[in-house]
Amino acid sequence: MSGTSELKGPDLTQGVFEADVVEGRPVLGHALGEAVILVRSGGKLFAAGATCTHYSGPLAEGLVVGKTVHCPWHHACFDLETGLAAGPALNPIPCFDVIAEGGRIRVGGKRDVAKPKVPQSSPKSVVIVGGGAAGAACAENLRRFGYEGRISLIANEQPGPVDRPNLSKDYLAGNAPEEWIPLRDAAFYREMNIDFSVGDGAASIDTAARTVTLSGGKKLEYGALLLATGAEPRRLSIPGADGANVHVLRTLADSRAIIAKAREGARAVVIGSSFIGLEVAASLRARKVEVDVVSVDKVPLARVVGETIGHFVQALHEEKGVRFHLGSGPKSISSRGVELENGKSLAADFVVLGVGVAPRTALAEAAGLRVDKGVVVDDRFRTSIDGVYAAGDIALFPDFRTGTRMRIEHWQVAERQGLAVAREMLGEGEPYRDIPFFWSAHYDVTLNYVGHAEKWDRIVERGSLASRQYVAGFQLGDKILAVVTVGEDLLSLEVDAAMKAGDEEKVKALVSG
Ligand SMILES: Cc1cc2nc3c(=O)[nH]c(=O)nc-3n(C[C@H](O)[C@H](O)[C@H](O)COP(=O)(O)OP(=O)(O)OC[C@H]3O[C@@H](n4cnc5c(N)ncnc54)[C@H](O)[C@@H]3O)c2cc1C
Ligand code: FES
Repeated sequence: MSGTSELKGPDLTQGVFEADVVEGRPVLGHALGEAVILVRSGGKLFAAGATCTHYSGPLAEGLVVGKTVHCPWHHACFDLETGLAAGPALNPIPCFDVIAEGGRIRVGGKRDVAKPKVPQSSPKSVVIVGGGAAGAACAENLRRFGYEGRISLIANEQPGPVDRPNLSKDYLAGNAPEEWIPLRDAAFYREMNIDFSVGDGAASIDTAARTVTLSGGKKLEYGALLLATGAEPRRLSIPGADGANVHVLRTLADSRAIIAKAREGARAVVIGSSFIGLEVAASLRARKVEVDVVSVDKVPLARVVGETIGHFVQALHEEKGVRFHLGSGPKSISSRGVELENGKSLAADFVVLGVGVAPRTALAEAAGLRVDKGVVVDDRFRTSIDGVYAAGDIALFPDFRTGTRMRIEHWQVAERQGLAVAREMLGEGEPYRDIPFFWSAHYDVTLNYVGHAEKWDRIVERGSLASRQYVAGFQLGDKILAVVTVGEDLLSLEVDAAMKAGDEEKVKALVSG
């Protein structure tokens, strides 16, 4: 993805007319050689970097809510006063002084990163188990929020935190170089004074003594502990499912192993028509691999986004040469291919399983935490044992919109929860109200999904998928639980903000247009 590279709009150091800076509508310009947005919100003026630090999305086209701006591409959120980021972006944006005089507004110098105020409370030390989205976001935000105690980030996946969503998309397709994949490295953590170790994972937790023992025997004491161990790809219990030609995809090593087999003309069978399965299919087609997708589902993705979108996504893949075998599961796998339950045989040089994940809760269970299809947490990510938090794919947390508990497997959610835990550990947390969001890319079409609907009794639609401008609201009773959009990025942000504000009527109005 590319972003704002050349400078556009006025030189904001020269100023613009006051009347041209309209409430809630960012003015794109530049200052001191950087793209900058000038924003009026709640009567206050802000100037900040215009380029999202995730994948360089254009913040001038985003949504301003209070003193934050939200990126139209994948909903990262930036504080306009401090520049601090909330997932999927990690790095802050720069902030600038704003001067209003003589009917004009101009941008002054770049502000120094404000020294964080001393946190309200401070655990003696923090141990974070899991160097993925939630763990990495928690560790670095603790420092950004002013925590000065010891932070140990315990990872067991090489090379450390990676841009996991990219592993099935541009990286697997050959469109993103490997240097884009690591999110952080040892030098970054040294500079942040975070004790980062990768390899020696956590083996057990003693919540009475407040210690974590690593697999090599080392013991770490904690004042506060975050468990962010993520999820494990499911395997199948059919003959041949553990063969050398059968792959799953969770880590950089998994993605590399698939790439090694994905030579032009090779034949792959993808088992599972999940988002990851279909993204793998798309990426393999980009490498000119022959791809068959096998699924017990009759329509791909229908359980998540309904049949209309499912059929649309299927057609996108068929146009690119993917062959679907739906409504029948695999019976066995051999070195030559896959046998289906309906008797069909598909030749394959390799097989990729995209049949879902299971939360890694064994460590939490052994430590005596309450686990029920996930580690049970409250709306501040506190587990059943004092001083222990859980976030990301393993956390079963209360959804304020429906009053039910949910476990969400999204990148942005894990990063936001890691950040929320950092605040909570420092006595500055608040009940979690961020709305789940994910995106999924299929060739030139990206689906944006806001909210969470496990079931619905009605789908309210607007626009058309054929014209790539489409909105679908998944309604249960009188509440729209989730909204899928194609080509409606600003609307997706508006829905997100309305859901977070608890304004259900506005959600309905936005969906029906
Ligand atoms: C290929 C792929 C593509 C995806 N694409 C998208 C997407 O487009 N959009 C989206 O929203 N979501 C996407 N997801 C889902 C998203 O990546 C996850 O929801 C997210 O990574 C969850 O974050 P987490 O921190 O809970 O777990 P993870 O990121 O999985 O991190 C957990 C880490 O903990 C480590 N760990 C486990 N046990 C231990 C232990 N005992 N000691 C030390 N470390 C341990 C694991 O090895 C892992 O490194 C994708 C996932 C995959 C696999
Ligand atoms: S580019 Fe801004 S959130 Fe991804």
